[in-house]
Amino acid sequence: MDLNHDNANNPNDPNDPKSVNDPKYRNVASVYDLVYETRTEDVEFYLEQAVKAAPLRLAEFGCGTGRVTLKLAERLPDTRIIAVDMDADEVEVLEDSLRARGIDTVETRCELIQDFEGEDLDLAIAPFRVFQHVTDPVEFEACLNRVARSLRPGGVFVFDLFNPSVPLLARTGLIASQVFEDGDGHRIERTVNVNDRDHFRQTQFVEEDYTVFTPEGGTYDLHWHYHTRYYFLGEVVPLIERAGFEVVRVDSDYRGTPFGKGPYPGDLVFHLVRK
Ligand SMILES: C[S@@+](CC[C@H](N)C(=O)[O-])C[C@H]1O[C@@H](n2cnc3c(N)ncnc32)[C@H](O)[C@@H]1O
Repeated sequence: MDLNHDNANNPNDPNDPKSVNDPKYRNVASVYDLVYETRTEDVEFYLEQAVKAAPLRLAEFGCGTGRVTLKLAERLPDTRIIAVDMDADEVEVLEDSLRARGIDTVETRCELIQDFEGEDLDLAIAPFRVFQHVTDPVEFEACLNRVARSLRPGGVFVFDLFNPSVPLLARTGLIASQVFEDGDGHRIERTVNVNDRDHFRQTQFVEEDYTVFTPEGGTYDLHWHYHTRYYFLGEVVPLIERAGFEVVRVDSDYRGTPFGKGPYPGDLVFHLVRK
């Protein structure tokens, strides 16, 4: 099992010769919201699912820094939300944001989905390819079992994966090179490399590198690496069914286009009900 999200450095570490005094981007988790600021379609989709389910109790698995959580909490002020993530840095960013907004309906838990204990949930979600990080299919099934056990019968689970693109699986190296500017005068250059593809285990090694240019003229680097696994629809459905879910629909996007009907490769958006 590889669930490590390794944040390799801390720009404020006094023992690091490249240390700069810049509290804003202290680790990769603190850059996340800026990087994904324009990814909004899936947020709207998950909000719609939540409004439709009108849950009293909801869990979000792999909540990260709260890209979706915060919007959910604002839209559904009467819903108790449990926000689960294994990455302490990300949970800390979420907790800061909850405090800053005065939201007290969200309980954060820094733990693995595999260890989650919950009951009587009406709705569970795992937005933005969370289960891709679970690189062992046995662990993947353990996660599904935990989610199923925590839902009431008839409770809903909505999550997504990417649909693996066969041509892209043959590519390695640089897959993204981007520049971000925040409103405080920071410029952030980001590259993402995918290497060491293991076509037997369906895994790859992802390295994200960030160079932050501060308004004062300082520079520092952040690095993050992890393994992910690509899952094909045909292998996931039996795991879902074994965990006690009925597959209501699998779509290829967040607009409700059924799998196989939209442009290739699309995503895998699962709508499940606990039997
Ligand atoms: C791509 S991020 C998505 C974050 C957030 N859901 C969003 O939409 O922005 C995947 C998240 O899942 C978390 N994660 C992956 N596997 C996990 C596991 N087994 N248990 C808990 N969290 C996990 C990671 O730490 C990461 O924050």
